[in-house]
Order: sequence, then C-alpha cells, then structure tokens
Amino acid sequence: ANSKKARLKAVCEATAAFYHIQLMRNPEPDAAAARSYLAGRGLGGDVPKRWQLGFAPGHGKLVRHLTAQGFNAEEMVEANVAMKDRGGKLRDRFFNRVIFPINDAQGECIAFGGRVIGKGEPKYLNSQETPVFHKSQVLYGLDHAKAAMAATGVAVVVEGYTDVIALHEAGIANAVATLGTALTLRHIRLLSRHAQHKIVYLFDGDEAGQRAADRALGFIDDSMTPEAGRAKVELAAVTLPDNLDPAEFVGARGADALRALIADARPLLKYGIERRLAAHDLTSAEGRSRALVDALSVLAPIKDSLLAKDYAVQIASRCRAREEDVLDQLARLEPPRR
Ligand code: CTP
Ligand code: MN
Ligand code: MN
Ligand code: MN
Ligand code: MN
Repeated sequence: ANSKKARLKAVCEATAAFYHIQLMRNPEPDAAAARSYLAGRGLGGDVPKRWQLGFAPGHGKLVRHLTAQGFNAEEMVEANVAMKDRGGKLRDRFFNRVIFPINDAQGECIAFGGRVIGKGEPKYLNSQETPVFHKSQVLYGLDHAKAAMAATGVAVVVEGYTDVIALHEAGIANAVATLGTALTLRHIRLLSRHAQHKIVYLFDGDEAGQRAADRALGFIDDSMTPEAGRAKVELAAVTLPDNLDPAEFVGARGADALRALIADARPLLKYGIERRLAAHDLTSAEGRSRALVDALSVLAPIKDSLLAKDYAVQIASRCRAREEDVLDQLARLEPPRR
C-alpha cells in the first residue's frame, strides 16, 4: 500500500511539474492568458514559482506527458488527474484552468485545485478524494506555514487558496486554508501540532463565510477548550469587514491592518455568543428571551466547565436575566449529539 501511495504522489508531482512549466513557458495564447490573469491578481513575479502554480492546457497533453514518463492509465485515474470518458478514452481532468497544487505537510503534492480563468462554473474544480488525498485532513499551505507556526505559536486559517498566498506574500506566513470545507476537529488537531498557542479563524464577511462560522461553532467541544487539558490550543475567530476576503483585505488595506484584525480575534466561544446575541433585538423583552436561549445553546457542549458558567453569567447580564435562572438553564442544556 505504501508503494502504491508513493506512486500516486509521484503522479501528482509529475503533474504539478508539467503544469508549472506550461504556465511559465507555454507560448500559446491560452497559457499566456493564464499568466496575465495571475499577474492581474497580483500573483505574478516570483509567486508562481514559490507556489508551483500551473496551467492545465487540457487536450490530452497531460496524459501524453505522463504516459511518456512511464505512468499508466490506472495510476492517472486513481490520482484523479485523468478520467476515462464513456468510450473508454483517457482524458485530462483539468482543462484550461490555473492550477494550485495541494501539498501534504511534508511538501509532497497530493492533489490539485483548478481555477477557471476569469468567470465560469465551477469556479474551482478540485481533486476528489484519493488514497493520498483526504480533504478533511489537509490544509492548503501547511508545508509553507509550519515553520512560522512553530516560531509564533499561532496559526491563521482562511478560506481560499488565493487568501493563503496573498497573506504569505504580505509577510503573514502562518496562514493555511481548509479546502472549501468547514474546519474540523481533525484540522484543529493537525494544526495544534504546529501552532502550540492559538488558532485564529478568519471568516469571510459574505454569507458563505458566516455559514462557515456557524458550522465551526458546531465543532466546539471540551477537547478544544484549554481547561480540558487535551488540546491546549486556544481557538479564536474574527469576521472580515465589508464583505472582503483576506486576500482582498490585505490588497485594499495592507498587511498591518490584517495583523491588527488577527490580534483582535476573540475566543471562539465569545465570538459565537456575540454572533447569536447580535441576531436578536436586545431592546425588547421578547428579543432578549430568544437571544438568551440562542446564545446559551453555544455553551451546550461544555456545560460542566467553569468557562461555560462564566459565559452564562455574561449572557445573563446582556439579556437582563437573573444569573441563577440562566445557570439553571445552562445545567439543563442537553449536550449536542454527534
Ligand atoms: N471552493 C471550491 N469550489 C468552489 C468554490 C470555492 O472548492 N466552487 C473552495 C476553494 O478552496 C476556494 C475556497 O473554497 O479557495 C473559498 O472560496 P471563494 O471565497 O469563493 O474563493 P476565493 O478563494 O476567494 O477565490 P478567488 O479569489 O479566486 O475568487
Ligand atoms: Mn513539490
Ligand atoms: Mn468566500
Ligand atoms: Mn478571493
Ligand atoms: Mn474568497
């Protein structure tokens, strides 16, 4: 099984190298368009080389290249860089896309994200799960970020490939991205091996980002809170203002403004409670009563801890309820089933 995995990684490495050369040297107009698209987004200069960005030309060019390198059809399909069409003909999976190679923590290529050049659907086409690529266990950019995480003790988690690259290029070198999925407990455990102190999640201000924030809150449990003594890492979160994503934010306001935002991130529990309180009208009794139930539910997974009680008291004060009543309600909350 190990030699099979090594072989699939070799397919990915050869694919990444081929796509990179296509981006850098292919003189044809579609490759030139990919180059100028990236340059227009501030991803020109040395950036493609540092991140081994690529261009997938399609037209069976990858399949021909990999065949010449001694890879067989089965390996290409299993690594998910090629697929068989209905007639059984082997085709390149990525066609006319900018390619972001996805590496494991050791820097070995295991998968790809392919972005359409300009507008089009789907915006990103990603590798499906393969024996070497398990989406929920991989963080884009971790191979580049782990040194800075070890040095600072902090990890910054963003949504997108381009966010990671923009942050690193701006000198914020401890950034990684989930691959279009919610942050899972696995991600947190993986990160806490590199960043001992704190994981800061930057949520996009758009609707999708806010949904991601709600999903992340669903993952809070005792294993993530410091006093549980297991994962001692602190979790913090902040929403980007004005519908910007992190790449757009650094572009518009600079790295120092983003650093300030990161430094300002609140503990995830506090962030979650504030979000729930903000969803209600705290000037009316009805609103305060709904806000109380809603905000308190964030504490359901950690009802035994002193931390939960502390937050419950804060919620009581914000909702103008009696502390004893709120602590009673806290004690009666059912922990979420998982
Ligand atoms: N994503 C995906 N498939 C899509 C859309 C998004 O896999 N159809 C994932 C990608 O990993 C992407 C991330 O979700 O990087 C965030 O999505 P989005 O904010 O829409 O993209 P950006 O990274 O901001 O991409 P860009 O700046 O190129 O538009
Ligand atoms: Mn490599
Ligand atoms: Mn987004
Ligand atoms: Mn973006
Ligand atoms: Mn985005």
